[in-house]
Amino acid sequence: MSIAQPAIIPEAGPFALYVVMKVIGDKQAVLEQCKRLHSVVDSLNTQQIDANLRASIAFGKSFWSSLELGSPEGFDDFEALGEGDITAPATGGDILLHVNANRHDLNFYLLRQFLSPIATDVDVLDETYGFKYLDARDMTDFIDGTENPKTDESRQDVALIKDGDFAGGSFVMVQRFVHNLPAWNRLNIAAQEKVIGRTKPDSVELEDVPAQSHVGRVDIKEDGKGLKIVRHSLPYGSVTGDHGLLFIAYCHTQHNFKTMLESMYGETDGKTDQMLRFTSAVTGAYFFAPSAEMLAGL
Ligand code: HEM
Ligand code: MG
Repeated sequence: MSIAQPAIIPEAGPFALYVVMKVIGDKQAVLEQCKRLHSVVDSLNTQQIDANLRASIAFGKSFWSSLELGSPEGFDDFEALGEGDITAPATGGDILLHVNANRHDLNFYLLRQFLSPIATDVDVLDETYGFKYLDARDMTDFIDGTENPKTDESRQDVALIKDGDFAGGSFVMVQRFVHNLPAWNRLNIAAQEKVIGRTKPDSVELEDVPAQSHVGRVDIKEDGKGLKIVRHSLPYGSVTGDHGLLFIAYCHTQHNFKTMLESMYGETDGKTDQMLRFTSAVTGAYFFAPSAEMLAGL
């Protein structure tokens, strides 16, 4: 069986790093750094006991196409969605580096090592450090991750391409959201719960989940089966600057992401996710994370 890259399946530690890059120089040098990444991580884990540092590298569609290895089925670019105040921009990127660990400093250290020989070959479009907040809450103070697949088996089943040339690979979706917490905090708890679709203290699904709540938009069934994704999102930012959620998820197909996004942004039935009145996406992109073997062979 093909092995997935390490950041995808295991439950992550409390700190993460998300970096989106565009390649502007020596493509071969950048690829060499990508291929070396997991051995650098392995040696750091040997030196730093309990770091649980895990990474994955993924590629945007046009960069991947330039490698001429064929493409996993249905690999598309992220397309902008929505209208008016509720929009999702498509901001692209050639390479996504996703790292999680028990230590923030090692995420920072790893990125320094990764970039040092290729600093002039890539343009960093976004570098965001995430952290587990309270008892796994988003900054809206709602628990995030309740319905995420929990067992290794179910996470593999949802996240990984099962067979064919791209087995062990995974599609990735990233959107960085900036929250408007003063507006959010003007709602009372009952109103906030109607926006999310779950209770605030303990994340119990409401008896009548409003169709325009976040859960009402993304808890989608097709042929009686729930659409699933494996989320690795974390809060990020500073109190006086931008802050919000770095949304990232893995799936064996882009279909689940697209269907959820169309439902959130009003393209399925004209209804929009009411949560989007209080948070806005400032980035949006799709990537493909090849299996560990395929990455090593690039
Ligand atoms: C569920 C927050 C963006 C997909 C949830 C829940 C919260 C939440 C609080 C309920 C607890 C849980 O099951 O995890 C947020 C915030 C977002 C965001 C704050 C951005 C600011 C997204 C996006 C997608 C998404 C962009 C997909 C395109 C899901 C899914 C569930 C979920 C699939 C589980 C639904 C279920 O099966 O009940 N989210 N979310 N979320 N979210 Fe989000
Ligand atoms: Mg459900």
